[in-house]
Amino acid sequence: MSSSHARSSLPLDRILSLEIARVTERAAVAAAKLRGRGNEKAADQAAVDAMRREMNNLAIVGTIVIGEGERDEAPMLFIGEKVGTGHGPRVDIAVDPLEGTTLCAKNMPGAIATMAMAEGGTLLNAPDVYMDKIAIGPGYQKGIVDLDAPAEENIRALARAKGVKPEEITALILDRPRHADLIAAVRKAGSSVRLITDGDVAGVIHTADPESTGIDIYLGIGGAPEGVLAAAALACIGGQFQGRLLLDTEEKRTRAAKMGVTDPRKKYQLEDMVTGDCLFAATGVTTGSMLKGVRFREGLIETETVVMRSVTGTVRWIRAEHRQFGKFHLE
Ligand code: FBP
Repeated sequence: MSSSHARSSLPLDRILSLEIARVTERAAVAAAKLRGRGNEKAADQAAVDAMRREMNNLAIVGTIVIGEGERDEAPMLFIGEKVGTGHGPRVDIAVDPLEGTTLCAKNMPGAIATMAMAEGGTLLNAPDVYMDKIAIGPGYQKGIVDLDAPAEENIRALARAKGVKPEEITALILDRPRHADLIAAVRKAGSSVRLITDGDVAGVIHTADPESTGIDIYLGIGGAPEGVLAAAALACIGGQFQGRLLLDTEEKRTRAAKMGVTDPRKKYQLEDMVTGDCLFAATGVTTGSMLKGVRFREGLIETETVVMRSVTGTVRWIRAEHRQFGKFHLE
C-alpha cells in the first residue's frame, strides 16, 4: 500500500462526488456508442479516452492506483499516471472505464463505467491479477464469514446470523469453470446460486441490499482491480469484504512487491483496502440489475449513475439528461 503518504485531515470535498459522476457518465456514453459491435477493445478504448479527458478537468492532484494496467502495457490510465489539473487535493484513483467489456461488446446486461477516489495514499495498490473475494452486506457481526472458511460453513453462519435457513440464502458467483467446486459446495449447503457471466463490481455491491437484489453473499475469484473498486463502494454503504491477491507466479509476486505488497498471502480486510475517505461512482452502459444503460434519444442522451460517499454513507442515484454532450465530446 502507498500508506507512506501523509493523510490530509479534511474529508474529500463533497463537490467531487458530482465531478466523478461526470467522469463515469462520459466514459459510459463513449462505450455505449459501441454496444453490440463485438469489439471489446474499441469499446474499452473509447471509455478510457473519455474518462481520462474528463478526469483531467478535475481540480485534483490525482494518481491512478488501480487502472488499465501497468505503465509499460497500458498507454492511458496506467497505474502511477498523474491525472487532474494538478491543483487541489491529493487523491488516489481507481478506475474501470468499462467494467464488463464483453457485456458491452455483446450488448448484454450489466456493463458499467466506474471509478473510486480516495484520499491520497489510502487505496490498496494492486496489480492486475486475480483476487479471491468474499462479501456480505451491512448489519452482521464482524467476522461471521471468512475467506478461509469452507463455503458451507460461511453459508451456515450467514443463515444463522440472518435468522433464516440456508435454503433462503442466495450466493452470487462468476460463472467460470474454476468455480465448479465452490458452486457445488454452496448448493450442497442448501443455498441458491445466481451466476453472472461478468461484472463482479456490481456483483459485490448487490450484497449491500439483499432485500432488493436477492443476493446475500458474493463468493469467488475475479479481478483484483474490480475487488478494490467494490471495496470502495462497500466502504461507503457498509458491508464486509475480504480479498486475497492470487500471486501464483514469481512474476506476479515481483509485480505486487513493486507496488508495496510485502506479504503475498495477505488476507485483506475491507479496512486494509480502503483506509481513508472515499467516493465511488458507476454509470450504466448497458441496462443491468443495478443501473439503466445509456439511452440515445433525439437531441439528448440519458444516463443513470450511482454515487456514494463514505464520510456520510450517502448514496445518490442520478438520472441525467445531457443536451450538450454531442457538441463537445461525442463525435
Ligand atoms: P473486464 O471488463 O475487464 O472484461 O472484466 C469483467 C470481469 O467479469 C470482472 O467483473 C471480473 O472481476 C473479471 O472479469 C473476471 O475475470 P475472468 O473473466 O478472467 O474470469
